[in-house]
Amino acid sequence: MTAPTSPQVEVLPTADAAIPILLGELRAALVRRPRPLIGFATGGTFTAFFAALAAEFAAQRLRGSDFVATHLDEYAGFDAARRGGMVHELVTHCAGFGEMLRSGAFLPVPGSEAGLAAHEAAIAACGGVELQFLGIGRNGHIAFNEPGTPFERGFHATTLAASTRDDARPRFLPEEPPRQAITSGIATILAARRVVLCAFGRGKAPAVAAMLRGAVNATCPASAIRRHANAVVLLDNEAAGDLRAQASAQS
Ligand code: F6R
Repeated sequence: MTAPTSPQVEVLPTADAAIPILLGELRAALVRRPRPLIGFATGGTFTAFFAALAAEFAAQRLRGSDFVATHLDEYAGFDAARRGGMVHELVTHCAGFGEMLRSGAFLPVPGSEAGLAAHEAAIAACGGVELQFLGIGRNGHIAFNEPGTPFERGFHATTLAASTRDDARPRFLPEEPPRQAITSGIATILAARRVVLCAFGRGKAPAVAAMLRGAVNATCPASAIRRHANAVVLLDNEAAGDLRAQASAQS
């Protein structure tokens, strides 16, 4: 029997087609392990998924006691209530996360390095991350591991790349986006038992090709996913565009 290849890559007709798959991944994690720790990514890639999760909570098909939630990163100096921050985004899009935060079933990434040891200990106390959702930046970052970040790092403070700040600018207007963040490291991400990375839209196509076909090294942090034994990459047609172009140039 041949071992399944990882990452498995699925090209979907639209980004919306990912939503039932993402809900299915969450449900499968709940079956594998009682009250698993689920790591969410923030950003536009997952906005529709958060709306779907909110509907699941509202219909009581999902409860805050089913799992423990955490996320990948937070802007430096931000607390859970601050607009533009990651926790604020999560609870705004899905009220269920807000209830989990109040009941202690949501582990927010601290806005400073001071809280990181306690955060990592809280993750370990949950038995580690069972399922990690990931997006990808145009520059190939995952979480806020910008190009050049060694794969061996755990949670750390980081300086955001110019393209990352450009992409974040609309959510902070009229202010400038932050320069620093606290992020999960690639070692932490690779320790999750299941990883699901989503990339949608033409703007992600070069990063997707670098992740899946380029060298596995820190130049493209997302290429680390090729070192994970149980990962899936969900793309829409546009994000898969450069992969297809490379394949047809080679044939
Ligand atoms: C955010 C995060 C980032 C985003 C990435 C894509 O928590 O981890 O790596 O996933 O920047 O962002 P969007 O989805 O806005 O294109």
